[in-house]
Amino acid sequence: MELRAPHNKCLSLELPAEAAQLRAPLNGSIYAEDEQPFSIKHNIVQLVENKQSFDTLAQLSNHISVTAQLYEALWRRRSISLLSGEDFSLNEEKKLLLDWTRPSSGETILDVGCSTALYARTLQDFELGTQTVALDLSYPMLKKAREKAVNEKIDLFLLQADARQIPFFNDTFDIVAMGGTLNEVSNAAQVLTEIRRVLRINGRFFIMFLLKSTNWLGRVAQESSSLAGLHFWTYKESKKMFKGAGFTINRIETKGIVAFALLS
Ligand SMILES: C[S@@+](CC[C@H](N)C(=O)[O-])C[C@H]1O[C@@H](n2cnc3c(N)ncnc32)[C@H](O)[C@@H]1O
Repeated sequence: MELRAPHNKCLSLELPAEAAQLRAPLNGSIYAEDEQPFSIKHNIVQLVENKQSFDTLAQLSNHISVTAQLYEALWRRRSISLLSGEDFSLNEEKKLLLDWTRPSSGETILDVGCSTALYARTLQDFELGTQTVALDLSYPMLKKAREKAVNEKIDLFLLQADARQIPFFNDTFDIVAMGGTLNEVSNAAQVLTEIRRVLRINGRFFIMFLLKSTNWLGRVAQESSSLAGLHFWTYKESKKMFKGAGFTINRIETKGIVAFALLS
């Protein structure tokens, strides 16, 4: 796969196919056309200058190994039910992701702000003929994503990179998925514009995000988390934001404050 160099948008660098074969550890460097090196550590391609970089205060915890270890088992399995107040299992969420995006052989897929790559693993496992990239700022999260993918015998490209400057050229992906990350980034409009740029014309963008709470207790909790950089939108504000980034809204379903949308 071809990457766009993070330090110069005109330059490319080749993502070697072996990097996705996670059962065979890959370490070393790849080089942009101007010879700028980027390291690969345990198959994770490092495309950020500061390996500990984070975008908002809320993300600090994502750089702690213990968070990455416990994230999926303790939180993610129950997160939608806990946040929405409705029973909604992880299997139901995965089914929704697959039903709405329908990956097919030969397609390219990107999971933005993947954490342990739940969406990337689900999509790649469903259709082995796809090429899937999981991208996050946090190295510990990507390391855990690698461990899970190895256990599940799934091949994935893992990139430590910034969603505000996605390291791919325009029109690269057929499917982009993003679960919960939009609420966490410092510049949601910029991330959406970047996703629009790398998504192909007939591509599908599946997003799960959190809406502004309508009850006072939820509002108080959200107001305090906004100090750490989390953002929430009303249903109307989120639609406006998606349209502003150039998307067409095909579907939106809400469960309490949890929203799932399919955009193109
Ligand atoms: C709520 S978690 C994502 C959960 C995951 N998508 C899932 O469905 O389980 C947010 C993730 O986004 C990552 N993140 C936040 N800002 C980012 C940015 N600017 N670029 C890349 N990743 C980012 C964080 O490191 C964190 O792992």
